[in-house]
Amino acid sequence: MSIFLPEDFIEEVRAANEIIDVISEYISLKPRGKNFFGLCPFHNEKTPSFSVDPQKQLYHCFGCGEGGNVFNFIMAQERLNFVDAVKFLAERKGISLPGSFNMVEDEEVKRQRQELYKINRAAAMFYHQNLLSNEGINALEYLRSRGIDSKTIRTFGLGYAPDSWNSTMNHLLDQGFDKGLLMQIGLVVEKGNSTYDRFRNRLMFPIIDHRDRVVGFGGRVLDDSLPKYLNSSESPIFSKSNILFGLNLAKKQRPIDHLIIVEGYLDVIALYEYGFYNAVASLGTALTQDQAKLLRRYTSNIYIAYDGDTAGQKATARGLDILKDAGCNVKVIKLPKGMDPDDILRRHGVEYFNKLVKNAVSLTDYKLEQLRLGFNLDNPEEKVKFATKAAEILVGVENPLERDVYIQKLYTSTGFRPELIYRLMDQLKNKKRPGLKRNVVGNNRYTKSVSKVNLGLPANIKAEKHLIRFMTESGELARNIIKQLGDLEFEDPIHREVLDIIKRLLEKNIEPHAAQILNYVQEHQRRCKLTEIFKLEMEYDNVDKYIKDCIYELRRYQLEKRGNYLKEQISKMEREGDSGTAQYWKLVEELNTINRMNKLGGMGKEEVL
Ligand code: UTP
Ligand code: MN
Repeated sequence: MSIFLPEDFIEEVRAANEIIDVISEYISLKPRGKNFFGLCPFHNEKTPSFSVDPQKQLYHCFGCGEGGNVFNFIMAQERLNFVDAVKFLAERKGISLPGSFNMVEDEEVKRQRQELYKINRAAAMFYHQNLLSNEGINALEYLRSRGIDSKTIRTFGLGYAPDSWNSTMNHLLDQGFDKGLLMQIGLVVEKGNSTYDRFRNRLMFPIIDHRDRVVGFGGRVLDDSLPKYLNSSESPIFSKSNILFGLNLAKKQRPIDHLIIVEGYLDVIALYEYGFYNAVASLGTALTQDQAKLLRRYTSNIYIAYDGDTAGQKATARGLDILKDAGCNVKVIKLPKGMDPDDILRRHGVEYFNKLVKNAVSLTDYKLEQLRLGFNLDNPEEKVKFATKAAEILVGVENPLERDVYIQKLYTSTGFRPELIYRLMDQLKNKKRPGLKRNVVGNNRYTKSVSKVNLGLPANIKAEKHLIRFMTESGELARNIIKQLGDLEFEDPIHREVLDIIKRLLEKNIEPHAAQILNYVQEHQRRCKLTEIFKLEMEYDNVDKYIKDCIYELRRYQLEKRGNYLKEQISKMEREGDSGTAQYWKLVEELNTINRMNKLGGMGKEEVL
């Protein structure tokens, strides 16, 4: 349970976010029976076993056992903690945060940011419409000449900024937007006393963040003039260093096995056209820690495909370490010199690019290869330098087996014996010790568990599950069951926990809705287990009878447990020579009663315990 946000608020947000709508923003769902089905975003599968239940407002995968309510889904997909997932969904429905939380961001500042997003969206629409109008004929022609089709133009919302000093500005002013904000966001530039459009006669690429907001633009010239690209200036909603072009689309591919980082807008677009929906671009700058963290929220498997020129190689090398430090598993796709993914796909096709992906090398391999280019290994002195530098790289490889593979390779290329390289590495390590640095962003936070509710469970545990399932049907039924349970306790700790939650909700006159109960259970395994219970389909003719039977099971089990305890105590007293005491006879008598009742099999009545 969150101690940070009020319960009522959490529930208000949950109720406002229809789970089918939210999940549909990530994966495609199709109705089947009472539920909706899609491909599970939590594990790889070819036939849909991921179900979303609109009535219970739960999702559950029959394949991998993942399950939860809308918050759990957002937590997993957006890699947010519970509180942030609530905030995320609150924002989605425009629900303002309760009192004290607004202090974090001033209302006015927040409103202005929203306005900036709105302006950008309006500008994007304007550019897009322009591209498809007469005015955009040349730009459209240019796109066609680069093999970009209408569907892609729509998907990426590509546009054209008219060849004019103020049509964009006038259009936006007509829509009632504030000129000051147009300048703040970098669509309008002020020089001396005059103002004019920043983007003129350019092909426009809206830059959309992972939350589907238009944060800025890149504008390309239609010829060879310079600068080739003009980007939005930094603004309260745009910073080149924490945005990745294309992530809004890439993140919709679920599950994301890996992401490919490329340099340019057109690389992402070309990859998309050729069926690689998982590419993002870092807008021509070196990768930053913020970007690495952002990527890491979606997958830890990253392929980097920067131009095969030296600038690209330098950028690659820097980016690699940043990604590794963020906990990513990095591979480098080696591109032919002077070509980017766009060039490669258009010239050589998908097969060829796929081969390059398949032949991608590890971070260490890449570094060693790059290093080697700088030395002439026929020269003994250079060979020593190379091996020494290589050993420095290998010190950073943690897995000893992996390290050994590289050392063998190094041996092959230099002839230095592995034990010497090991010794050198030891020396280097000792020198480096004080600076040891670890910076791994949470590993394995989302490990999966598979549990099947009814597989060979003891009857009493099964009964507990069924009772819980019934309690989530209605408050009335829950009250009824709780009354019948009396002093009986659930055996399974998770079941006890749910019962407490249900009781608390009932005290406040709140219906114990399955999805609402999950607001209080965030721990992964317990949450999945509960979802399975909530999704149980039970067959019965008469609810009352069924519930009585369940309670009977609990009683029978309690008696059995008590009986075993008594037997143990009695034989212990006998062993210790206490068999004549009053206490002894009391226990014997109780055991007899239990045995008698067991024989009669009539424990469904109130006289028991
Ligand atoms: P590239 O020069 O590789 O461009 O720059 P590109 O994306 O492949 O485009 P085409 O194929 O030549 O048309 C890579 C990225 O660097 C940024 C842009 O984000 C671009 O997509 N860049 C490049 C700029 O921001 N400004 C520039 O002047 C050039
Ligand atoms: Mn290019």
